[in-house]
Amino acid sequence: MKNKPLRVTDLAWEFLRPVLKPGDTVVDATAGTGQDTLFLRQCVGESGRVFAFDIQAVALQQTKSLLDNSKSVDNVTLICDSHEFIMTRLIDAEIEEGSVKAVMFNLGYFPGGDPAIITKVETTIKALSSALRLLSTGGMMTICLYPGHPGGAEEAQAVIGWGEMLEAPFVAHHFQTLNRKSPPTLVIIQRTR
Ligand SMILES: C[S@@+](CC[C@H](N)C(=O)[O-])C[C@H]1O[C@@H](n2cnc3c(N)ncnc32)[C@H](O)[C@@H]1O
Repeated sequence: MKNKPLRVTDLAWEFLRPVLKPGDTVVDATAGTGQDTLFLRQCVGESGRVFAFDIQAVALQQTKSLLDNSKSVDNVTLICDSHEFIMTRLIDAEIEEGSVKAVMFNLGYFPGGDPAIITKVETTIKALSSALRLLSTGGMMTICLYPGHPGGAEEAQAVIGWGEMLEAPFVAHHFQTLNRKSPPTLVIIQRTR
């Protein structure tokens, strides 16, 4: 961290860390390389449950090997499907609405993969709205936005507009760097009651 600019992915972890407890149920809505899935798994421990979505099998393979290397795959369910189906997939796993402590979205494309396979406005907003219903009281959703790639600015605007419209018991925050061109930004949603 020393001498390096803060990254939205690190900020998301710092906000989530004090919220998460052993035994919590959590979701990584965009598994990618698996870094966030592993972080969530470490926070909720062996008694927690982690669900990780990605539309690309290659991303879930990478996530699985990261978890295997950390000997932590036992309570992680990897789902090769779009996060727009988050609600049905969790209900199928007997997870109830209002019982998920955290949902992480890290939008954009698979690092090192095909930059044409990206998260899209319509499915992202659908997934975010479903994820809200899953969130427990005291729960938190983190959304890392990357306006610098094609389609990213449109998606970031849509997510920020969606957050601005949320009503109680949700509180929406937006954290951004001021002096860089198209910097990644972080939206956080809290459910306060
Ligand atoms: C920026 S990466 C995620 C990085 C990841 N959290 C990590 O720790 O490495 C975005 C991921 O979203 C995935 N993705 C794109 N559209 C998706 C969708 N509709 N549902 C779920 N995942 C999707 C991509 O395949 C890609 O792996």
